[in-house]
Amino acid sequence: MATYRSALVTGASSGIGREIARVLADRGAELTVVARRQERLDELAAELGDRTPVRTIAADLGSEDGVAAVERHLTEHPVELLVNNAGVSTGGMFHELPLAPELNEIRLNVLALVRLTHACLPRMVSAGHGGIVNVSSIAGNQPLQGYATYGATKAFVTSFTESIAFEVRRSGVHVTVVKPGYTDTEMNPDAPQQGLQRRLLWLDATHVAKAAVRDVERGRLHCVPGATWRVADAVIESLPRVAVRALSSRVRG
Ligand SMILES: NC(=O)c1ccc[n+]([C@@H]2O[C@H](COP(=O)([O-])OP(=O)(O)OC[C@H]3O[C@@H](n4cnc5c(N)ncnc54)[C@H](OP(=O)(O)O)[C@@H]3O)[C@@H](O)[C@H]2O)c1
Repeated sequence: MATYRSALVTGASSGIGREIARVLADRGAELTVVARRQERLDELAAELGDRTPVRTIAADLGSEDGVAAVERHLTEHPVELLVNNAGVSTGGMFHELPLAPELNEIRLNVLALVRLTHACLPRMVSAGHGGIVNVSSIAGNQPLQGYATYGATKAFVTSFTESIAFEVRRSGVHVTVVKPGYTDTEMNPDAPQQGLQRRLLWLDATHVAKAAVRDVERGRLHCVPGATWRVADAVIESLPRVAVRALSSRVRG
C-alpha cells in the first residue's frame, strides 16, 4: 500500500478528474490540477484549499504549448502521483466526421498522456516510489463502430499502460489503468438519472475516482469500477479475439 504526498491530475475541471482530485485532497496530497477552464479549476482550488495546497494550470493538452507547459511544470515540481485523466470522445461514422477533432482526440488522449508519463516516470523509478494512473475505458477492449478513434485511443492507453507496468513492476512504482464503463459526467449529458439501466450500467464519477485511487495505492494494474463492468470486462477479455471481432461487427457503439 503506497500513499502519495503530491499529485498532478489532468482533466480536473469536471467529471472523473475532479472527483479524483477531491479523493486525493482528502488523503492530504498536495495537488496540481490541469484543464482548459481556469474558472472551474479556481472553484476546485477554493473548495479544496482548506484541506491541501492546490495549484492550477490552465492548459490545452491537445496543443504543443499546453503539453510543453505541463511537462516543464512536472520537471520543476516533480509529483509522486500522475493522473492522466483528460480525454474527449467523438462519435459518428469515421468517414463522415471532420478530421480535425479526430486528430485532436489522438493528441489529447494518446500523445499528451505519453508525454506526461515520460516527464514523470524516470524520476519515479530512480526514487523507487511513485504512481501513474491512466484513465482508459472499456471502449478500448474491442473495435467500436461509431467511436473508431475513441476506441483506438483507449486501446492504446490500455496496452501502453500494461506494458510500462510490466517494465517497472520491481521498481516500487505503481502503474494502474482505469477502465470505466458508462459514467455520468459532462461527457454523457443524456445519462439516464433513474431506472434499471441506470442502476445496472451507469457509474458515478465519485465511485470511479475512489476505485482508481484505491487501486493505484494497492499496486493493482487493472481497475474496472462497478460489478456489471467487471463482469463485462472479464467476458470480453476471456473470449477469443475472433469472437470479439465478430460481435463488434454487429454492434454499433
Ligand atoms: N464518462 C464516461 O462514460 C467515460 C467512460 C470511460 C472512460 N472515460 C474517460 O474518463 C476521462 C474523464 O472523462 P469524464 O467522463 O470525466 O468527462 P468530462 O467530465 O467531460 O471531463 C473531461 C476532462 O478533460 C478535460 N479536457 C478536455 N479536453 C482537454 C484539453 N484539450 N486539454 C486539457 N484538458 C482537457 C476537461 O476540461 P476542460 O474542458 O476544462 O479542458 C475535463 O476536465 C476521459 O479520459 C474519458 O475518456 C469516461
